[in-house]
Amino acid sequence: MTRKPIMAGNWKMNLNHVEATGMVQKLAWTLADKEYDGSKSECVVVPPFTDLRTVQTLIDGERMPFILGAQNVSEHDSGAHTGEISADMLAKLQVTYVVVGHSERRQFHGETDELINTKAKKVIAAGMTPIICVGEGLDIRKEGTHVEYTLNQVRGTLAGLTAEQVAGLVIAYEPVWAIGTGEVATPADAQEVCGAIRAEVAALYDQPTADAVRIQYGGSVKSGNVAQIMAQPDVDGALVGGASLQPEEFAAIVRFYD
Ligand code: G3P
Repeated sequence: MTRKPIMAGNWKMNLNHVEATGMVQKLAWTLADKEYDGSKSECVVVPPFTDLRTVQTLIDGERMPFILGAQNVSEHDSGAHTGEISADMLAKLQVTYVVVGHSERRQFHGETDELINTKAKKVIAAGMTPIICVGEGLDIRKEGTHVEYTLNQVRGTLAGLTAEQVAGLVIAYEPVWAIGTGEVATPADAQEVCGAIRAEVAALYDQPTADAVRIQYGGSVKSGNVAQIMAQPDVDGALVGGASLQPEEFAAIVRFYD
């Protein structure tokens, strides 16, 4: 089973409308200069909601080799939910991937495995693909219970999903202590947990499902460390934050699979 690698750039709450246009165009030109063709991997751009249409218009208009992603979604379908964005709204904006359960949403917005599971189901029901985030904090890492902690998140966020649905989604292992800190996980750290996640999917479902599901690593991925982490057998790509805001840097990361 060959899994198509997926590199995603999560802009978080950065770049306004004007900056977003410049960012995507610089990324496209940088990759074009390096003759990136995108056939060997997927490059997902994950802007704030306010830039989704801008980015997709650029992708369509200039035939950029990028796929549109969103950073969150409501667990509700529609109605009196001020400030929320539904899965159907995102799908109509040609969003393909939706990041759900990012550690910053767990930390600052109290998102639970159960809520993230509901969001993942809404994303799938709308015809999109969830990128489900899991990963431990520094306290858990220091205790040495990080694998079981992360697998508990995997079990909770996958609850009720079919084997076919899980085979088609993405799980992003993002150790919280590596996010935005420059403290990237070692290749062995990344492989240890990503391998355990794949084994857990095999146990929960079956080996073909485990072989199909794509598992990303996220947390201080840079052009200088991408090769050693992506070389791990159970790592199928990266979920990149800070480096995705620098066209040259993100282009170098994206081109790893090219
Ligand atoms: O979603 C990706 C993000 O959490 C990783 O951030 O800045 O450590 O690459 P960063």
